[in-house]
This record gives sequence, structure tokens and C-alpha cells, in this order.
Amino acid sequence: MKKTDNQVLVIFGASGDLTERKLIPAVFNLYCGGFLPECYAVIGVSRSEYSDEDYRDKVVFNNEHLINKASATPETLKGFADLVYYQSVDTKNIEAYGKLKSRLDLLDEQNATCNNHIFYLATPPSLYETIAQGLGDVGLNSETTGWSRLIVEKPFGYNLNSAKKLNKELLKHFSEDQIYRIDHYLGKETVQNMFVTRFANSIFEPLWNRNYIHRIEVTAAEHVGVEKRGGYYDSSGALRDMIQNHLFQLVALIAMEPPVRSDAESIRNEKLKVFQSLRPYSDEDIKENVIRGQYMNSTVRGEAVPGYREEEDVSEQSKTETYVAMKFFIDNWRWAGVPFYIRTGKRMPTRVTEVVIHFKPNHHHLFVNDSKLANQQNVLVLRIQPNEGILLKFDMKIPGAGFKTEQVNMDFHYDELTNVYVPDAYERLILDCMQGDTTLYARGDSTEAAWEFIDPILKAWEQQEDIPVFGYPAGTWGPEHADKLIEGDNMNWRYPCSNLTDDGNYCEL
Ligand code: BG6
Repeated sequence: MKKTDNQVLVIFGASGDLTERKLIPAVFNLYCGGFLPECYAVIGVSRSEYSDEDYRDKVVFNNEHLINKASATPETLKGFADLVYYQSVDTKNIEAYGKLKSRLDLLDEQNATCNNHIFYLATPPSLYETIAQGLGDVGLNSETTGWSRLIVEKPFGYNLNSAKKLNKELLKHFSEDQIYRIDHYLGKETVQNMFVTRFANSIFEPLWNRNYIHRIEVTAAEHVGVEKRGGYYDSSGALRDMIQNHLFQLVALIAMEPPVRSDAESIRNEKLKVFQSLRPYSDEDIKENVIRGQYMNSTVRGEAVPGYREEEDVSEQSKTETYVAMKFFIDNWRWAGVPFYIRTGKRMPTRVTEVVIHFKPNHHHLFVNDSKLANQQNVLVLRIQPNEGILLKFDMKIPGAGFKTEQVNMDFHYDELTNVYVPDAYERLILDCMQGDTTLYARGDSTEAAWEFIDPILKAWEQQEDIPVFGYPAGTWGPEHADKLIEGDNMNWRYPCSNLTDDGNYCEL
């Protein structure tokens, strides 16, 4: 196991939802699992005034995302709470960072945390540059006596220009290897397993190219709507919220060339090349190949569900997309001519994220069934969530006379692995940062390259009134127009069910 130095985690945005829901519970899991170093502290920072005790009550003893865990005994809660501190700082005020510096100096001295600091920016993005500057001004970016790392939450930029500007500003105070741009999809075990499936097995890689793959599909469907995040979401939309980051990270892992080594830079170099090879869209391509939609009110499983425009903090005239489906190409040797279809949406029939590899059919059809050709396409499904696993569909002979064939499933489910502890995405990512491992974090050049591809779509949507936003009833698979993206007779998206092996229009949701 890698060594974890003694250190302090400083969370900006300490009274926010992310801290309570994800960050503190992730650190608590690390504590219970024995992954924290001997000397460790967490310090929450925000404008609100709390004493250390008040803050411990809020994020530990009364935090429903933590206290319901099986590991949350009175002893573990107390032991963990003793590591948690709070410092009020007006983070907008560049003069106020001296207060944080003094508190950290004191904590480092009391707790022997060796001047090693992670600064986690869980604030609104408008504060990222100010915080980096504030930390730089008081020398908290310095690595002369310990190390200093900055975790930046998504969204990383609002478009290409703002992402470039943010990179530039952060780099004034921190070097690239101190900056950890988080994408929680990369912390998911099943996402990391895509990399392993490809490169640890000899049977997939020879087929993993334009000669054998017909098309690739990525779906990230959510059953929920925007919930309480209307304010943020209405100025973001699905393209920025899910595609530019999470889905593109999945695409990069599927499409990348084998890295020379499994270290951070080798892997991140190959991912960058994928983004650089995305074929840019013309205005005409955008109209034809990118479909956007917005959910409308409907009855889902017997329950009335409001439309997007009726959600809290959403404009009644909003044109923000809650659904995007797109077709694009990766112009390189491996993927020439292979279409990638990706889609994401809120208020879909079920919650599912998966990658589907459709292999080309046989070149010569030996077995012919009554009305249709057999030898359907082989399909490999890499299921990210839920019912995590891998499914391979292939043809089998139906017992009896002749050579009638039928497609059958061969499936592996993660839950068959007993006694294996699967860490939560944030837990894994925070631990990696604690150990100085950037592999599962996005690099600045990659982030910009992904924005470069997305930016023209955002501009076209903004400037061309005639590009429609299609309405779709909540609880459905989105606008029908998305089906037309997929070329070929009888070709369609896979309509997955929550159970990996099921698909189609009618299934257990
Ligand atoms: C977040 C998005 O990054 O990812 C949310 O902001 C989305 O809108 C969420 O719901 C999905 O994450 P997961 O892990 O539930 O698939």
C-alpha cells in the first residue's frame, strides 16, 4: 500500500451540501477503514460562524449521511469528530486568508501534520480563482516545508474561454502537479475497471477497433429530475453538467490507445489524444447530430411529476436541456468511421449508466433463420451502475434439427465478488490525492481539449434560434429524434433496464 503522509484537509464550502453529503462521509469511511495517517485533521472553512463543537455537531453527529452507516458507532463518531475543526473566513476577501494561515500553523504544530495541506474547493466556481490567489498570497501554495495540493470541483469552466482562464489563473499560484480536477465518475470502481477489462485481457484488444466494432454507445440516464438544484442547473444544462466531463471521461477510457505504463502521465497523455482527435462539428453537423430535449410533466409510475419549467428556481421560459444525445467520430487510425453515440438525461425511465460495444456482424452469413439472418451483432455491455457488471451477447445453437440460432447472455455481476469492499468514488479520489496520485484526476490540457469540442455546440444553441429543444414526457427515454441519429436498418439504442441482462421497452424499472 502507498504511504500516506501526515496532513490536513481544508474544505472550502464547509457548510455546503457537497461537504455534508459526500466529503465528510468519505473521510469518515477512510477513518473507519484505517486509511488516515497517524496525524490528521480536517478543517472546514466558510463564512458562517461556527465553533469547532458546533461544526462537529453539524457535519458529524447530526449528519444523516454519516450516522446511518453501520460503522458509525458512538466510539467511531467521537474519534472522528476529534479530528474535525472549523475556521470562519470570508473567502471573497483576499485579506482574510492570513486568519486561515495562522490557524493552520497552529494545527500543524499541535497535531504534527507536517505542513502538508489539501485545499478542497467545494464552493461555487466563481470563488475558485479568488481562493487560489488568497492561498498564494499567504504562502499556503508553497511546498518548501510540506506539500500543498488543490482539489477543484466541477464545473471546471462554463465554456472554453472560462476554462482556459481558470487554468491560467490557478497556474499563477499552483503548478499543474499540485492541481487535482475532480470528476467523480473516475472514482467509480466500474469506470476504472473499463481500463482493466481492455488492457488486462488479451481477448478484447485485438477486436477493439474499426475492423470489428460497428458502433459504440454510452448512456447515462437518471430517474430523478433536477431536484433542489434548479438554480445551478438552469444555467448549466446536461451538456455542461454531464457530457463535457463524465461522459467524455468514459469515452476517453474506451477509445484511448494502450498507455506505455499505468502511471498518471502515461494514461493522461493517451486520454488527451482522444479529445484532440474528436472530429469538430460544423454548424450543419450540430443541427443533425446533437439532439437536445427538456422533460415535460407527466405521470410516472402512477405519480404526477412536474415538468422542468415548473421546478424550483427554473425559469418558466427556460430552454435549458435536460437531455442530450449526440453522434460523433474520433478521427484516428483505430476509430476511423466508427460512430460514437452518447446520451444523458434526467427523468428517464430508470437510473443506468453503461457503455455498449456493438461488434460488426459476421462477414458471411452461414446460418439463416426463418425470416431473418442470424449472426446478429455481438454486444458487450460494460455496466457502470446499477447492477454493476459485464454482459456479452452471442449466438448459440437452438437444440434440435438444423442450425437455428438464438442470442444468449453471458454475464458477470460485481456483487458476486464476496468480501470485497468497494469504496465510494469520493473516498477513492480523496485518498489518491492524499497520496499524491493524479491518475484519476483530469489534467488541464485535457479539460480544455474537451471544451474545444463542446464550445461550438453551446454557441450554436445560443445563436441559432431554429435549433429545437424537444420536449419529452418525464419517465420516457427522451425525444424520438434521438433514435434517428443511429444509422442502419433495425439499429437503435439499447434500452437498458436496471437489471443488466434485461433490455427493451418493457422491463422491471
Ligand atoms: C453530477 C451532476 O456531477 O453527477 C448531477 O452535477 C448528476 O446532475 C450526477 O445527477 C450524477 O452522478 P451519479 O454518480 O449519480 O451518476
